[in-house]
Amino acid sequence: MPAAIEAAGLDIGYRLGTASITVLAGLDLRVEAGGFLSILGPSGCGKSTFLRVVADLLDPMKGRISVLGSTPSESRSRRDVGFVFQDSTLLPWRTVRDNVRLPLEVGRHRLTRAIEDRSGALLELMGLGALADRYPAQLSGGQRQRAAIARALNGAPRLLLMDEPFGALDEITRDRLNDELLNIWRATGATILFVTHSIMEAVYLGERVLVLAANPGRVVVDRDLRPLKAAGNRREDPAFVAMMADLRRSLETSE
Ligand SMILES: Nc1ncnc2c1ncn2[C@@H]1O[C@H](COP(=O)(O)OP(=O)(O)O)[C@@H](O)[C@H]1O
Ligand SMILES: [Mg+2]
Repeated sequence: MPAAIEAAGLDIGYRLGTASITVLAGLDLRVEAGGFLSILGPSGCGKSTFLRVVADLLDPMKGRISVLGSTPSESRSRRDVGFVFQDSTLLPWRTVRDNVRLPLEVGRHRLTRAIEDRSGALLELMGLGALADRYPAQLSGGQRQRAAIARALNGAPRLLLMDEPFGALDEITRDRLNDELLNIWRATGATILFVTHSIMEAVYLGERVLVLAANPGRVVVDRDLRPLKAAGNRREDPAFVAMMADLRRSLETSE
């Protein structure tokens, strides 16, 4: 099975007129298929920019990257990649159900594999069954995020990119969605790349966590979290708390 992500010598950044800025330099990264990778790093270090390259919204400046064994563009055409961002942009003129149905509608890229419409089941799973006929403006922030997740999952992505998806939510809702996300991850076998500002969330969700530093953006910490999962993944366990403290120190020196 090919890796979900394989990057070697990757430089990514932006062209600004004739000048260009390098955001991430010399990135080497392999993420196994089916893994759950948390990504932490100071604001502006290039987390979102990296996800943009994976999603084929931005071309790398140098180096190579493969996504699910193909180019980012091929994976995008196959609709193998789904996204959820912090401010999920549901279409305001469509009901929740019709927003969740969006991935089934053929867009710019031809659909190259059949996708079953699981809108109903996903709405139930996300606790939105009774709200399916509402419009986004009639939902709370947490409900909108759940609708965005249901929409992303309806495309049956093999790789799910989540960019601070729960950042705007209260802690209780966030904890509940974290558990739902873990259930979905286990049930679907999808690979998840999850960017967050919360150290606790990164450790609770991930099987592995990266800390990026800024200027230039680079990976400064890469930790295996599976031993914590095997030990029960409790937020109050000494090993869990020690991991959070360790990551916090790395983050404080990575600005
Ligand atoms: N469209 C863009 N054009 C030029 N520079 C950008 C663009 N988007 C982001 N940047 C810059 O790239 C750097 C990384 O941004 P970003 O990936 O959004 O950081 P993060 O998600 O880690 O907070 C920042 O310095 C930001 O100002
Ligand atoms: Mg960002």
